[in-house]
Amino acid sequence: MNKNRVIKSYNDKIKSLKKFNKYYFEKNKPLVTDGEYDKLKNDILILEKEYTYLNSKDSPSKNVGYKPSKTFKKVMHRAPMLSLSNAFSEEDLFSFEKKILNYLSRKDSPQISYSAEPKIDGISASLTFKNGKFIQGLSRGDGKEGEDITENLETINDIPKKISSKEFPEEIDIRGEVFIQNSDFKTLKNKFANPRNAASGSLRQKNPKETSKIPLKFIAYTFGFENGLKVENQYEFLNKLSEWGFKTNPLNRLVLGVENLMKNYKEIEDQRAKLDFDIDGIVYKINDFKLQKRLGNVANAPRWAVAHKFSSSKAISEILNIDIQIGRTGALTPVAKIKPINIGGVLVSNATLHNEDEIKRKDIRVGDTVTVERAGDVIPHILTVDKKRRPKKSIKFTFPIKCPFCGSKTTKEFNKITKKFDAVRRCSSEGYYCDKISIEKLKHFVSKEAFNIDGLGKKIIEDFWNLKFIKFPQDIFKLDYNKIEKIEGWGKLSVENLKYSINQKKNISLERFIFALGIRHIGLENAKLLSKYFISFSNFQSLSIKKNYNDISNLDGIGETQVGSIKSFFSNEINLNVLKELGKVLVIKNATNKKSDGLLKDKSFLVTGKLNGISRAEIKTLIEENSGTTVSSISKKLNYLIVGDKPTKRKVLGAKQLKIKIINQDEFNQMLNKTS
Ligand code: IVH
Repeated sequence: MNKNRVIKSYNDKIKSLKKFNKYYFEKNKPLVTDGEYDKLKNDILILEKEYTYLNSKDSPSKNVGYKPSKTFKKVMHRAPMLSLSNAFSEEDLFSFEKKILNYLSRKDSPQISYSAEPKIDGISASLTFKNGKFIQGLSRGDGKEGEDITENLETINDIPKKISSKEFPEEIDIRGEVFIQNSDFKTLKNKFANPRNAASGSLRQKNPKETSKIPLKFIAYTFGFENGLKVENQYEFLNKLSEWGFKTNPLNRLVLGVENLMKNYKEIEDQRAKLDFDIDGIVYKINDFKLQKRLGNVANAPRWAVAHKFSSSKAISEILNIDIQIGRTGALTPVAKIKPINIGGVLVSNATLHNEDEIKRKDIRVGDTVTVERAGDVIPHILTVDKKRRPKKSIKFTFPIKCPFCGSKTTKEFNKITKKFDAVRRCSSEGYYCDKISIEKLKHFVSKEAFNIDGLGKKIIEDFWNLKFIKFPQDIFKLDYNKIEKIEGWGKLSVENLKYSINQKKNISLERFIFALGIRHIGLENAKLLSKYFISFSNFQSLSIKKNYNDISNLDGIGETQVGSIKSFFSNEINLNVLKELGKVLVIKNATNKKSDGLLKDKSFLVTGKLNGISRAEIKTLIEENSGTTVSSISKKLNYLIVGDKPTKRKVLGAKQLKIKIINQDEFNQMLNKTS
């Protein structure tokens, strides 16, 4: 890469990092997952290592965390609050230990002893004690300077306010993590994305009374400045902390050598979903304080400690239940409800099980211990089942053979092309018989690519359905706004806005309208083809009378499957009524503005054979756009037979007999003043 491009790429990354920091630390609204954030940070550090001229004051190599917000008094930490370097694999751990041994020149030394401490994913704080009294509490801020959040920290019960033990140092900054237990987070779910955000948000409340309402916890694990501390190693320090009245992590262990660190890591990873607090890895600290002192720090992290992070895309959890969800096309989708687990900074409590076959193939059962994967934007799914940890009484999951919502039979369709039964099981009810399908149909009807009604989202559709305001699409346009105004959360203005946006959408193009109906297999593209073919709503609607399904099967892109589902849509009385009622309340615009005096005025056409670069459906549209008509057979009414490649001889002969003009594609184009 040339220098300019390196600098640009580096600056862009720093800019993104600053933005992410701002949202994370100041607004409590993370823009990216922890995994993505870590990757960006790492990319910057790699670039700096490779191109030494890169040097930004905002680089993560210079800053720990982010500048504290302006609303609290800022105070310098007497000893900086450092960050930790990360390890992601056994290999990383070996190289961490190797570096330490090299540094201490202890190549053939006995195994190193570590304090292994689960890394709670919360907010760190530093508490200053003088003569046993808690006098000041600071947030981490940028590591050098924190915010004075003493009053808020005072509301936390886990923080002892007065320590009388004689052994307690005259002066010490006790450091640890402020967090919210998962069970307590349940009640805060609507306000915050995850427990970490909830803890951070609560700690930064301007009013300590607000903080006191949130069940914050504190676990202590290290110290900053001290005067009079008489302990020799970390593990002893942790024991002392609990003697002095602090909470420490019950899963802290003293571990010898990297192999045992790995063993401990796996054991804790297995238990993770059962814990009532979020952990995102394990912190290993060289136990001996003398060694810690000799090792010192690199940049802003100690050389004597490392955070062994859990995967940012996978985690182990337990299946609490298997729910069946239903889509607008009646597809039944099984969803695993799992014990909430943090995967890459996102609390995951649902995982898709895809379909019945997937459950069978993996023999997934309620109560199973499973590995869940959440990669990128993909919906979390179950990777593997740990059958060794299956409860003895576990029973095979049986997929419902009746729709759990309306009791109709469920079926698996036979795919004529693959000659196999579909993996998806569907509710066999038609139209709006199944309530759950109806709600999904309505959600689709108002969705972005369909009617796109502002202020009428999925949640409101559900609310209105439950209140029996709507059952069919046409009900949306006949809402009683006086009734809505009386519902909690709705005011005059929001009702006015809703009314306005619904009225505005009464004008709709035929293609959007067809798409909005949610006919199975008719997506946006097919809806477009159909609208170009039918031109008007009344033509489309009359399909139920004319039953000219064969004509649409000639459209390029509309196959047997699509025709089948259009047929089934039009053979359902409720659907026909929906069309009729919608026709009364909507203005459905014709597909194209047919010119009444176009170049092909009063001329009729029939095509035989394959044309070059234009489909049958398209040429039909083109003819109609220019005021011409198309017919489906040779008769006296026909003016022009357009002949393409491999025409039907019978048609050509018939046209000759009736003295109908026979033209080729070029001649047709000339009629439109077009050259191809
Ligand atoms: S020790 C110099 N111990 O991890 C050592 N930190 O990335 C730095 N954390 O800011 C802190 N559990 O918020 C330490 N047992 C533990 C920890 C722990 C969680 C957090 C803490 C710190 C971050 C470092």
